[in-house]
Amino acid sequence: MKTFLINIKQLAGIQEDISKLKLKGKEMGVLTTLENAYLEIENGLISGFGEMRSLPNTDNSKIEDCSGKVVIPAWCDSHTHLVFAGTRETEFVDRINGLTYEEVAARGGGIINSAKRLQTATEEELYQAAWTRLEEIKSMGTGAVEIKSGYGLSFDAELKILRVIKRLKAESDLTIKATFLGAHAVPPEFKGNKDGYLDMLINEVLPVIKEENLADYIDIFCETNYFTVADAERIMEAGASIGLQSKIHVNQFTSIGGIQAGIKHKALSLDHLEVMTDEDIEDLHKSETMPTALPSCSFFLKIPFAPVRKMIDQGLAIALATDYNPGSTPSGKIPFVISLACIYQRLTPEEAINAVTMNSAYAMGISDTHGSITIGKKANLIITKEISSYNYIPYAFGGNHVERVILGGK
Ligand code: NIG
Ligand code: FE
Repeated sequence: MKTFLINIKQLAGIQEDISKLKLKGKEMGVLTTLENAYLEIENGLISGFGEMRSLPNTDNSKIEDCSGKVVIPAWCDSHTHLVFAGTRETEFVDRINGLTYEEVAARGGGIINSAKRLQTATEEELYQAAWTRLEEIKSMGTGAVEIKSGYGLSFDAELKILRVIKRLKAESDLTIKATFLGAHAVPPEFKGNKDGYLDMLINEVLPVIKEENLADYIDIFCETNYFTVADAERIMEAGASIGLQSKIHVNQFTSIGGIQAGIKHKALSLDHLEVMTDEDIEDLHKSETMPTALPSCSFFLKIPFAPVRKMIDQGLAIALATDYNPGSTPSGKIPFVISLACIYQRLTPEEAINAVTMNSAYAMGISDTHGSITIGKKANLIITKEISSYNYIPYAFGGNHVERVILGGK
């Protein structure tokens, strides 16, 4: 049976051309919108849309009246670490009292602290906690999410996270992609032996990942005091050898050449980008990678926001994501990300919405099926409460303007 959403105040995020996979530069400023529109869903897919005056025959169909409401593609959150155990608010207070994020990590906090807690949690506990987070982000409009491992830092614990993600994929109605981020930090057992840790990840964990089909992508925290560019190249090559494209953490605190390595290895996305040289920006033009900024991480850590205004003005594509994790971004709220991008990075609402739909779908390899109102794409949609226009979403920051989320037509 068909479903019709009718009397939609604004149907926003239309892309007529299904072969268009991302939006660059000026294209990002266009969010194609129909006023007083309808949308048709059949078999879980968008099967038609148009102005109300051309509404087709709706006999024997399910009808939902969307008067006063905006309908937009559900958000795609292309960068999260949402399988974790325990929270880190004591570190948050330490930072208020003057320590930096790096100092907290150097004292045994940070990623290592999260790994200690995760190693003792059961798979069931992790699954339940992650499930609750998925339900929470869905209620704010997220319909697709990438989830990284990286708080395990041991053979058993990294696989435990990836198996939890595999189960979430099977049981959740969100579209989920899994990324192996074993190289997130060097665990204490390998202190002074980073290469030994990378050997273990590559020679022992990756074969199991391949065998059990546990990941779609591979990641590494390429950063001063974490992993070098040479380490990143090694991990990207190892991932590629079992068919995992890379999505890597680069330029969060320092610019050390991660961008250039990611481009060389055809990374699907390069994420963080808080610290960018002119050369880094220039080099991105030579690649199909999706530069991805994480404004709620900048907000929470009080570090610079990625220079995405400049990057879009120079013609680049940009995606935005949350980075949901217990250390640098304990929040998976895409609407807040949109507000931050508009307020602190001077993106227009159109640019910010394209960055969390079409372009973030590209950054997780699903923009052929997600991220826009396009005939043939999955019916993953947000129906807002009654609001004046999509501009109200970033404007009225911190609120939840989502009334209902439709995933796969349901
Ligand atoms: O993406 N930067 C590296 N990893 C995470 C945060 C890690 C943590 O503090 O737990 C991030 O921000
Ligand atoms: Fe991250």
